[in-house]
Amino acid sequence: MMKKDIQTKEDIVQLVDVFYDRVLQDEKLAHFFAHLDFETHKPKMVHFWSFVLLDEPGYTTNVFDKHANLHANSSDFNEWVSLFHMTVNELFEGEKAEAAKFRATTIGFTFGSKIDALNKQA
Ligand code: HEM
Repeated sequence: MMKKDIQTKEDIVQLVDVFYDRVLQDEKLAHFFAHLDFETHKPKMVHFWSFVLLDEPGYTTNVFDKHANLHANSSDFNEWVSLFHMTVNELFEGEKAEAAKFRATTIGFTFGSKIDALNKQA
């Protein structure tokens, strides 16, 4: 059966929920999120993806700054991106689904490279 595309905020809530279920079971990634309050974190992710995919206004956070001091490296970012792709592919297909994966890939690659470079300097 043809899957639907990411079309509504409810779709993004589902994507974020299923994605974090995966992340929290991932050996490489779970520890980064162990102390996070998901009640406040998930709505931020939903706002971010609604801004990217559904043109919802008002998301102004500098996302890189939130990751600069996590001690994650490019290998961790690759894992994150790969889990994100798996989750999107499992739930959705279409133009927005492709856009979501593309954005995750470019952001993940950029952050990973930038943080690897910063770690070398330190
Ligand atoms: C190794 C990979 C990653 C790890 C360990 C990670 C971890 C985290 C953590 C711990 C936070 C909470 C920071 C805080 O509230 O101070 C966060 C926030 C966030 N992350 Fe990531 N992240 C990763 C990759 C990504 C990627 C690739 C994206 C984008 C595609 C992303 C998007 C965001 C967004 C939008 C927020 C919320 C920022 C806000 O509005 O406060 N993350 N991340």
